[in-house]
Amino acid sequence: MNSKINTIGVLTSGGDAPGMNAAIRAVVRTALDKGLRVKGIRRGYLGLLEEDIFDMQAKTVSDIIQRGGTILYTARCPEFKEVENQDKGAQILKKHGIDGLVVIGGDGSFRGAADLAKRGVNTVGVPGTIDLDIACTDYTIGFDTAVNTAMETIDRIRDTSTSHERCSIIEVMGRKAGHIALWSGIANGAEDILIKERRDEYDEQYIIEKINRRRETGKKHYIIINAEGIGESEAMAKRIEDATGMETRATIIGHAQRGGSPTARDRVYGTTMGAKAVDILLAGGTNCVVAYKSGEFISYDIAEALAMKKDVDQYMYDLSKRL
Ligand code: ADP
Ligand code: F6P
Repeated sequence: MNSKINTIGVLTSGGDAPGMNAAIRAVVRTALDKGLRVKGIRRGYLGLLEEDIFDMQAKTVSDIIQRGGTILYTARCPEFKEVENQDKGAQILKKHGIDGLVVIGGDGSFRGAADLAKRGVNTVGVPGTIDLDIACTDYTIGFDTAVNTAMETIDRIRDTSTSHERCSIIEVMGRKAGHIALWSGIANGAEDILIKERRDEYDEQYIIEKINRRRETGKKHYIIINAEGIGESEAMAKRIEDATGMETRATIIGHAQRGGSPTARDRVYGTTMGAKAVDILLAGGTNCVVAYKSGEFISYDIAEALAMKKDVDQYMYDLSKRL
């Protein structure tokens, strides 16, 4: 056990994700169980710079494992990219006696954690984002819930789309990554899946011809899942309707995908990752992130993790085209 760690701080940063509360709860209760003090930092790096820091007890995290969002609130704080603010953040942590910090968020949040580590703060990142776009890990907190929410919503849209014999373009979240689109597209048996990573394969004329061919064979609906990274769903719907004569509606699911009660996977893996982060700090680890790789919870150095690249699964993508 790292005897230098007496107080652990925890914050959530970037976009929230269902399961973050489970991770916070695990951090707090694991640390308390090891005899440490725990301090919560509200609104990510913004709250750190504003010293919005409070003591957390076991009871502070009661009744939250089933709740979406984050009880610590979250924020985007571009000012934290400035070295003066990173210096200030490290000093504030020191002032509050925080010698180990758990940062729950995405790649941007991990960059902030690495900057604090350079200033002598022991930091561990926990991957939290609905987008699944953190290269070092096969799992990120919130993705499972978000995909299930998207899937259930698309099922509902499909019912009305079929009744009205329409084409539906459904836009799911993921500005930079198409994982939610690919998974929900496969789960819903969508006719087409459009993702930024394969933008060069997006051929609207081909889709129009396919819709016309399918209608001739009696098909009653046509579902296109469009990732936020491609966007422009309304304009696309108008063009497709004009070209095919098939009534076409666009639905942007939006932030509903970021909320709601986490799935069992997001609660259990979120809990495990939160606890692992504390274990790592106590074992003397710093400047690293927890990851789930090939069925195991492991950790990577932050720089190594951030240097990794991730693509959508090619087999899944090809499969979606074949079915
Ligand atoms: P995510 O953590 O989900 O990738 P963002 O990219 O919005 O989300 O980053 C979250 C926050 O992390 C930012 O608002 C900022 O406070 C901090 N951050 C992002 N990039 C850096 C960086 N290069 N250096 C320091 N802090 C950063
Ligand atoms: O957290 C990830 C994410 O939901 C992306 O899928 C999306 O592009 C972005 O955040 C939306 O951010 P905001 O909440 O600022 O609209």
